[in-house]
Amino acid sequence: MEIIPPVNQNEYNYILGIETSCDETAASVFSPGKGIISSIISSQVELHSGFGGVVPEIASRKHLEYILPVTLEALQISGLTLKDIDAVSCAQGPGLVGALAVGWSFAKTIAAVNNLPFIGVNHTYSHLLSVFLKNNRDKAPDFPFIGLVVSGGHTSLYIVDDFINYKEIGRTRDDAAGEAFDKVAKILGLSYPGGPQISKYALKGKSVYNLPRARLIDTPFDFSFSGLKTAVSNLLKKEEKTENIIYNIAASFQDAVVDILCEKAINAAKKFAIKEIVISGGVSANKKLREKMDNQCKKNDILFYAPDFQYCSDNAAMTAFAGYNLLINGFISNQDEDVYSRNKNHFF
Ligand code: KG4
Ligand code: ZN
Repeated sequence: MEIIPPVNQNEYNYILGIETSCDETAASVFSPGKGIISSIISSQVELHSGFGGVVPEIASRKHLEYILPVTLEALQISGLTLKDIDAVSCAQGPGLVGALAVGWSFAKTIAAVNNLPFIGVNHTYSHLLSVFLKNNRDKAPDFPFIGLVVSGGHTSLYIVDDFINYKEIGRTRDDAAGEAFDKVAKILGLSYPGGPQISKYALKGKSVYNLPRARLIDTPFDFSFSGLKTAVSNLLKKEEKTENIIYNIAASFQDAVVDILCEKAINAAKKFAIKEIVISGGVSANKKLREKMDNQCKKNDILFYAPDFQYCSDNAAMTAFAGYNLLINGFISNQDEDVYSRNKNHFF
């Protein structure tokens, strides 16, 4: 990625965003004046649900099938054609390399053929900003805020100073929170994705098991969920596998994850004297997490924000919006850039 002198923001009226990092094929058009004009998501969840997780080869092939119709639909709903688009942004990583490569080569080609600026976007960074994709601007946070990104591939805490300046203060040492939901669901015999399944089961159960919460004294803003996963597995070996017991384990597991996410985010806000907390990523759709974070924030005089539900899981609206913020700050991708599977130390 190169940094060129910041441009006149008015140069970018319509940004096309493309997202294929995992099992959602998505395209969106964002306009700084009008907001999100279209956001089309084709989810492959049903294709992968029987496997307990995403099968990379299937994901890539389905992206190949869907990427063009999904993009055409996003343009059609916007009432625009490619001639109206001023820039193209695309998820570059982290994610499944084969899946990312489909969107990346597609988006890069659209940009090259139409002589448009092209910007690769870090997927985690786009989740971090997804809270701004709201119809009601009064509900948008002010900077600085503590950002907690909780997805299937990522669990980290950030201090976010503005749209492009942020610092990571903690990350998971092993599984991401969403990954823990998916793995525990598999252990409990539930389908992929595990988050929505576990929260549904948890509603019918009671949080009666005291499962471990990894506090990690030396690095208090890091996370660890692998011990919790093992504890669920050991518990299930000891217990009868009745429906009620599965409900109770689901409720106890969800509570353990939610407790630790809330505790660390609130502690970070207190330590750095920051008065706002923002959650994002697929797990931020979890109602128990939203409720508890909201309660804890109120008790501690902190403002709490979460994205609209449609922007918690993977979508291209966040890619278009993040791409726009990078472009107006002078970032642009080179034509020979590749995708990447893991997060680098910094998003850009
Ligand atoms: O952000 P996302 O769509 O993809 C990644 O970037 O990873 O997150 C997907 C993750 C999955 O692990 C899924 O189980 C989890 O988000 N998830 C949830 C809920 N909805 C989705 N986890 C807990 N509760 C939910 N309601
Ligand atoms: Zn994601």
